[in-house]
Amino acid sequence: MKTPNIPQNAPYSDTQRAWLGGFFAGMHSHMLQSASSANQTDARIINILYGTQTGNSESVATDAASVAKTHGLLPVVKSMDEIDIDTLAKMEYLLIITSTYGEGEMPDNAQLLWDSISADSTPRMENIQYSVLALGDTSYDLFCKAGIEWDERLTELGAKRLYDRIDCDVDFEDAAESWISSVIPMMADGVAILDGLTSTISASGTLGPKYNRKNPYSSKVTCNRLLTSEKSSKETRHYEFSLEGSDLTYEAGDALNVVPLNCPELVADIVKAIGCTGQEDEPVNGENTLFSEALRTHFEIKLPSKELLQEIAKRSSDPELNDLLQADDKDKLSNYLWGRDTLDLLRQFPDVEFSAAEFIALLKPLQHRAYSISSSGKMHPDSVHLTIASVRYHSHNRDHKGVCSTYLADLVDDHSEVKIFFSPNKSFRVPEDDSLPMIMVGPGTGIAPFRAFLQEREFRKASGKNWLLFGDRNAATDYIYQDEIEAMQASGLITRLDLAFSRDQAEKIYVQDRMRENGAEMFIWLEQGSSFFVCGDATRMAKDVDKALHDIIEQYGNKTAEQAIDYVNQLKKEKRYVRDVY
Ligand SMILES: Cc1cc2nc3c(=O)[nH]c(=O)nc-3n(C[C@H](O)[C@H](O)[C@H](O)COP(=O)(O)OP(=O)(O)OC[C@H]3O[C@@H](n4cnc5c(N)ncnc54)[C@H](O)[C@@H]3O)c2cc1C
Ligand SMILES: NC(=O)c1ccc[n+]([C@@H]2O[C@H](COP(=O)([O-])OP(=O)(O)OC[C@H]3O[C@@H](n4cnc5c(N)ncnc54)[C@H](OP(=O)(O)O)[C@@H]3O)[C@@H](O)[C@H]2O)c1
Ligand SMILES: Cc1cc2nc3c(=O)[nH]c(=O)nc-3n(C[C@H](O)[C@H](O)[C@H](O)COP(=O)(O)O)c2cc1C
Repeated sequence: MKTPNIPQNAPYSDTQRAWLGGFFAGMHSHMLQSASSANQTDARIINILYGTQTGNSESVATDAASVAKTHGLLPVVKSMDEIDIDTLAKMEYLLIITSTYGEGEMPDNAQLLWDSISADSTPRMENIQYSVLALGDTSYDLFCKAGIEWDERLTELGAKRLYDRIDCDVDFEDAAESWISSVIPMMADGVAILDGLTSTISASGTLGPKYNRKNPYSSKVTCNRLLTSEKSSKETRHYEFSLEGSDLTYEAGDALNVVPLNCPELVADIVKAIGCTGQEDEPVNGENTLFSEALRTHFEIKLPSKELLQEIAKRSSDPELNDLLQADDKDKLSNYLWGRDTLDLLRQFPDVEFSAAEFIALLKPLQHRAYSISSSGKMHPDSVHLTIASVRYHSHNRDHKGVCSTYLADLVDDHSEVKIFFSPNKSFRVPEDDSLPMIMVGPGTGIAPFRAFLQEREFRKASGKNWLLFGDRNAATDYIYQDEIEAMQASGLITRLDLAFSRDQAEKIYVQDRMRENGAEMFIWLEQGSSFFVCGDATRMAKDVDKALHDIIEQYGNKTAEQAIDYVNQLKKEKRYVRDVY
């Protein structure tokens, strides 16, 4: 029996080649006859590259691969940090699936490949036939920017766009499915679909998770405990959700998504502000729903959508708001909106009224919020823990609450049920080699995954050294998990602990200051093979920590700035510098 030719330059590992060979060798002979009768002995490889921060693009890539197999293609799914530009340039059939992060930036695992493909020296790519699926969120100014840039760059380099890019909003599933079902048959054009292949593959293929965004799991909240002191200037809480009887499992480093409900008082105030009663019957997802119920469960009513803002501007004819929207000055608009929610806007323009149906048409669906898991699934197989700072602030003469963090914080019933689902984050993991050191930088709620990592190492009795850098505002009120951290230090699990309490003295002290103070030792750890993990605020902290890391490598590794960049890039390639930042 003849197995299909897998081209030697195809980016398969030896294991993959072996698997593919076995896969075809194991097929029933009539399937292969039908392949050869269609003159199709060379299997067509389709490369599926994903750029992801929280796993959505990776799950779409896996789905695309399953469909590709049913069309007789040989899919190779890779994270963008697993290949280099020369390998990319040799590809023939390419699907790019990428999200956008930060402010219109590439996800971390896509950055290096993007830097390479953006360089002037990049080879032409006329042999590539491709399509791009961009994941994003329309509430960001630079919607799907990363996917758009990939699409444009591939065209510039001469690659042939086989199917138009699709830009997906947060409800990406349907759009992704439609893209996959259109693009795969085009990529498979001329490839024989082997009889019986579909069933062979679906029997062994991966099934999607049982619980997901569309079908979340209802979990009992078994713990909702204040971590910060009553006297603190902030409120950070520890939550535990029961997984008993669910068959759900997770890994340290994954995220848990919580599907919130809006605050009933906010719903009532909004209903009143637009001149409705709340008792109006409105069709939502094909079902008649009371307007107030629809606002509580289905729509984002805190952060105003662009459409709502534009309609309020139009109906109020307010010169300031209209000027702001027309000026296209994003900074001015964000300053105007900072701390101002939908209710503030409605109250600001009391003459603007909406019917329930008009109002709903201007809202975005209520979204889940992601949280870095703060427990190890091995140590706590029946529960999953989160560490969440409650968003509460006063502005525009009233108290404001973050939707999800306070939905959880203000749960009154013991054992309330909350809808959750997991997002695996395969790149954010405790090193497989238990003897390797880990440096973990996690100020504020950034501590969350490192509590999980340390539990994981304790469970595995891992011998590797662990260095934790934690910080928050004040030691007396905000040293969360202090008892646990001190116990881990006493037991030797935490080898080094550096704390940075920013508001205990006149000058701010941050985790990156502690890094610099201990730069010589940090460089030694890196040379010993340590991973460098960062979690928490993306906009300021993660950037400053990144700068400190470069400076330390330059100073203590006796390197130039360029050499330090190369060193850091190598850490990223080896997945030793990974971040979970938001
Ligand atoms: C991968 C990932 C992991 C995360 N992990 C964690 C975690 O472990 N712990 C954690 O606490 N969070 C985490 N987050 C953040 C979390 O998802 C939510 O964004 C956070 O809880 C706020 O959500 P919310 O619904 O309570 O607030 P929202 O209703 O979403 O309101 C937040 C908005 O309120 C406004 N706002 C907030 N503070 C102020 C202020 N002082 N003044 C004026 N306006 C303000 C801003 O517009 C802000 O965008 C993570 C995010 C991601 C993407
Ligand atoms: N992008 C986002 O939407 C985003 C990002 C992070 C956090 N949050 C939300 O904000 C709330 C509180 O977050 P949190 O508890 O994680 O953190 P946080 O309260 O914002 O900060 C934790 C510690 O980090 C310090 N810090 C501030 N700027 C820093 C910098 N440039 N480098 C290093 N450290 C710095 C803070 O100091 P000072 O405050 O004294 O300066 C504080 O000591 C949560 O609701 C969280 O979800 C939102
Ligand atoms: C901190 C943060 C920043 C984001 N920035 C953008 C952005 O600038 N533009 C955009 O279109 N989407 C943005 N998104 C939305 C993500 O691209 C979207 O949630 C996507 O589904 C994530 O896919 P992933 O899990 O594969 O990373 C952002 C999301 C987060 C949490």
